Amino acid sequence: MANSLHLPRNSHYSIRNTQLVSLRSHLAPTSLIPIGLDIVRAEGCYLYDKVGKKYLDLISGISVSNLGHGYPKITEAIKHQVDQHLHLMVWGEYVQAPQVVFAKNLIAQLPNSLDCVYFTNSGTEATEGAMKLAKRVTGRHEIIGCFNAYHGSSQGALSIAGDEWLKNAFRPLIPGTRQIRYNHIADLEYITQHTAAVFIEPIQGEAGALVPGNGYLAALRKKCNETGTLLVFDEIQTGFGRTGKLFCFQHSGVVPDILMLGKALGGGMPLGAFIANQDLMNSLAHDPVLGHITTFGGHPVSCAAGNAALEVLLESDLIEKVAEKEASFHRQLIHKKIMAIHGQGLLLAIEVADFEEVQQTIKYCLGLGLVTDWFLFNTHCIRLAPPLTISEEEIAWACETIKKALDSF
Ligand SMILES: Cc1ncc(COP(=O)(O)O)c(C=O)c1O
Repeated sequence: MANSLHLPRNSHYSIRNTQLVSLRSHLAPTSLIPIGLDIVRAEGCYLYDKVGKKYLDLISGISVSNLGHGYPKITEAIKHQVDQHLHLMVWGEYVQAPQVVFAKNLIAQLPNSLDCVYFTNSGTEATEGAMKLAKRVTGRHEIIGCFNAYHGSSQGALSIAGDEWLKNAFRPLIPGTRQIRYNHIADLEYITQHTAAVFIEPIQGEAGALVPGNGYLAALRKKCNETGTLLVFDEIQTGFGRTGKLFCFQHSGVVPDILMLGKALGGGMPLGAFIANQDLMNSLAHDPVLGHITTFGGHPVSCAAGNAALEVLLESDLIEKVAEKEASFHRQLIHKKIMAIHGQGLLLAIEVADFEEVQQTIKYCLGLGLVTDWFLFNTHCIRLAPPLTISEEEIAWACETIKKALDSF
């Protein structure tokens, strides 16, 4: 998905790939430069294409497959639920056991103030629901996001996203939205009694895995408390162990009023959620009734899969091992062309000189059977977000391959 945004900086690359695009003539493109892998099977940390070539997956479908591909407990839960029932009714009307069980298990891992789950189909829809909830609860309409933030591709989510180039062709967007600089305490002054909510990622994913400085999130929390503004954490990319805790906000101890989840939430099935206090959530049920509705949100098969994935994360030592695996990447990714490694846990960004080097590295790695990617809003970094199940041997091979790629130009 990152690819399209870099197209104007990179037009020669698109021309080489026009053949590929014509192969996809019945599927809407998002860019002229899709990766174009033709994958027929995936297992563990590997993807297999139709000629049998295998690829080590260092991006997990953009932070989705945190347990790798085809994790048996997840596929069993899916099969079991398929045999029970698929869709029964729109959200909120029937008691559907997979939704109830999963919500209960999620809430058990969260502070008391986050005790009510609204499941959606996607991360973007979690953003939409959370934006509406913030407006409904506060009676205010100003919503603040951060520069270089990504919260989804719908018009609401784009309104609070922080990249003008991505948004401009779709204006007018939602009025009353504005951006502040991530990690700049000075900009907290823009949060006022008029602000309904601040949407923020506890690590900014598409900016290149940008970790906020000590005390920033706490200062933001304080300012939100002072102004009666809701603090919304987007953990769609950072959740479910990716940064070394089940949820990234647990590193700082700063608790949001609304937590948004997606990606790994569904264990590989489509699912999103926004989670808040029951009192806040109740406001969506009156004035107007049906204040937020969805047909498929919280699909029973997705909830069954997500619940199985959560159980695996909680029962295993995978999250505990994330810091060691992060350290292995740091130890082994030493190369004169690597200027820095950003991020936390297994959400990492390798910084090189420029976008040309990013592209060349990604392309070379792909040739050798290693999938990496770039970021939407950072032209100097290569994305690493492997399944948490990646082994030390696989990390060693991945690092060697990346260094070979860097040596190749
Ligand atoms: C931080 C963040 N928020 C929201 C979204 C949107 O999620 P989805 O693509 O499931 O709608 C993404 C997707 O990349 C994301 O990274």
